[in-house]
Amino acid sequence: MPDFSLSPEQESLRDLARKFARTEMTPHAAECDRAARFPEEIYRKAYDLGLMNLNVPTEFGGSGLSLLDQCLIVEELAHGCAGMTTSIIANCLALEPILLGGTSEQKERFLAPFCREYHLASFCLTEPSGGSDAGALRTRARKDGDGYVLDGEKCFITNAPHASLYTVFATVDPALRHKGVAAFVVPRSAPGVLPGKDEEKMGHRASSTSTVRFEEVRVPESDRLGPEVDGFSLAMRTLDQTRTPIGALATGIAQAALDHAAAYSLKRQTFGKAIAEHQAIQIKLANMAQAVHAARLLTWHAAWAIDHGARGTLESSIAKCFASDAALHVADEAIQTFGGYGYMKEYPVEKLLRDAKLTQIYEGANEIQRTVIARELLRAYA
Ligand code: CAA
Repeated sequence: MPDFSLSPEQESLRDLARKFARTEMTPHAAECDRAARFPEEIYRKAYDLGLMNLNVPTEFGGSGLSLLDQCLIVEELAHGCAGMTTSIIANCLALEPILLGGTSEQKERFLAPFCREYHLASFCLTEPSGGSDAGALRTRARKDGDGYVLDGEKCFITNAPHASLYTVFATVDPALRHKGVAAFVVPRSAPGVLPGKDEEKMGHRASSTSTVRFEEVRVPESDRLGPEVDGFSLAMRTLDQTRTPIGALATGIAQAALDHAAAYSLKRQTFGKAIAEHQAIQIKLANMAQAVHAARLLTWHAAWAIDHGARGTLESSIAKCFASDAALHVADEAIQTFGGYGYMKEYPVEKLLRDAKLTQIYEGANEIQRTVIARELLRAYA
């Protein structure tokens, strides 16, 4: 029988994240959203509490949490602010290729400093020309003596201006498509690493997103992750791990939208009674609750499957895709429940809709998730 109960340790992790979100994130969420402020003091507090680098094993000083544990935390943080959560968990995405493809020496060298003190890292895969087509990279990795020279531009890179380290995917020959992709670790201090200015975004405005240019950046061979031809697989295996927490993040947004809508419906009076007493609103809330519950269960299932050794390609895409679609829908219904007030920035629900939108796009647009799901599904019938 599946067991959905959480252990006492998991309950306390969830409580810790919930308390942090409610006391440190929620009170600043509207202001950071309005001003597009990157609240680094909050990220440092998250680090101090062990709420960053969640996937790094304890032997390197990380939290060493299971994916399910990570999802419990991420959902709670996202309830407070999705943008802040994106910035808090970006290290997990950036460091995952090192965990999956690094040697013991590389893991010790690159991961341990992250767990000794607060640092940010960025995952540099997406490019302006290729977008979702991750096999079509143009950033070149030219072999040069005992290393490589990287040249090219990445875009939509979370935390890039604040990061001290980048995991970078580049091609030794674009004609080889995915078979030419190699992965590298590049410190911010390397000459030629040029993060761009913050993009002005619709949502996730407490997070920072920019381009990064690599201009003739020298990288020693010792900083390449895995065999030269392994970069694409490493990127895909990384995303197999990290898409499930995006499902959790989307679930957190959806839960917040439901909480706001339900609480408001009990206070707001129309036609002589609380709108919660109108069936139209009850049906809305019931549908929202179903979507939140299903998103959470799919996310927990994907995390559980990966924790139990599954590759997780199918499960993580299902969780990410469903939960992000659910988040957008639930946030939309929360606005509808608030009526005209929901459209006003004075109330918290319009932010949730803007934040939910990105979860349908980043870490693989939902059209890509559906492509992945269909491919995995059809494999079983071939
Ligand atoms: N694990 C391991 N290997 C995999 C894999 C996986 N999950 N998926 C594919 N591969 C392998 C295939 O087996 C194949 O290997 P062989 O050549 O040995 O047969 C190879 O990779 C190529 O696979 P495909 O033919 O499936 O490749 P494709 O070009 O058709 O593309 C894709 C596949 C799934 C569409 C991929 O391009 C993709 O995932 N795109 C989306 C990229 C993405 O998610 N970007 C988000 C960036 S991160 C971000 O948003 C972060 C942020 O900062 C917020």
